[in-house]
Amino acid sequence: MSAFQRGAGAVMGAPFGGSQYVTMSTPDSPRDLEMYEDPQIVSSYSGTPALQPPEQTVLDSLGPGLREMDVLDLGVGAGRTAWFLAPHARSYLGLDYSQAMIEQCRRLMPDQRFVVGDASRLEFAADESYDFVLFSYNGIDHLDLPGRERTLVEMNRVLRPGGTMAFSSHNANFLPSVIDSYRFRIHSSARETARSLKWAAIFNMRNPTLRFRLPLPIGLIKDGQHAFRSTGVCYVRPDVQVATLSRLGLVDIGCAMNDFPDFRPGNDPEVATFGSPWVYYRCRKPGGGT
Ligand SMILES: C[S@@+](CC[C@H](N)C(=O)[O-])C[C@H]1O[C@@H](n2cnc3c(N)ncnc32)[C@H](O)[C@@H]1O
Repeated sequence: MSAFQRGAGAVMGAPFGGSQYVTMSTPDSPRDLEMYEDPQIVSSYSGTPALQPPEQTVLDSLGPGLREMDVLDLGVGAGRTAWFLAPHARSYLGLDYSQAMIEQCRRLMPDQRFVVGDASRLEFAADESYDFVLFSYNGIDHLDLPGRERTLVEMNRVLRPGGTMAFSSHNANFLPSVIDSYRFRIHSSARETARSLKWAAIFNMRNPTLRFRLPLPIGLIKDGQHAFRSTGVCYVRPDVQVATLSRLGLVDIGCAMNDFPDFRPGNDPEVATFGSPWVYYRCRKPGGGT
């Protein structure tokens, strides 16, 4: 059992050598938590840290102003993004619901602050207390739909006026390619053909109605991540995600892909047709004199 599962309101986290504690609560349904506690999966996220191109664009847009920013890095995993943010920000807090991930972060970056907690319940954080809030590498897709909505509301709540939030999310426009990748194919080797049959059967059993639900605005898909251990990953159409951010009052909404790392305005008609596996979203809370 992880510290996260031990109960609501437990006092956890010992950032800065135990000098600061943060109170966290248990999520309603910690989807995929067991998967992210697996040491092998933790180690798969512990490679040489690098930013994806749109993440670099976001970082560049923060510029030297990052030195004056309080940064909250949600779903920090083994700390990939922490290397690029923590040493350069006024303050940094990395959060993940997996205790194993947080222990790895603390091992790798003992001088930085990391806590175990649920991104959809940031009770420890005051309203408008961060300048930059990030949920990188599609981590937000592991929440159920109400949890995802709550997370976006929380990210917005803790953001200062003028602050930036960014995340990436799987793209529902890419689902036909996902389906195609699991199509049964006859190969020259019997072994490969048997493999193809096995994965096609597993995918179709886990997603029996998916092909009839396309085009899908938003939904949880068992896309085979980590050998189908994930209970479902959220795929969302970029225009649907942009509409949600806009409804939350966020402005300057931009979208980017790894192939086109410059952010385009969320209302650009091209955005609705983005075809990449996942899409990056960047937006701003109005106010703050910007
Ligand atoms: C795909 S991994 C990405 C890790 C890291 N951001 C990176 O870019 O390497 C998603 C991360 O989100 C975390 N996560 C998923 N749901 C979460 C939640 N409700 N609260 C906090 N962390 C969560 C997982 O534990 C995992 O570390």
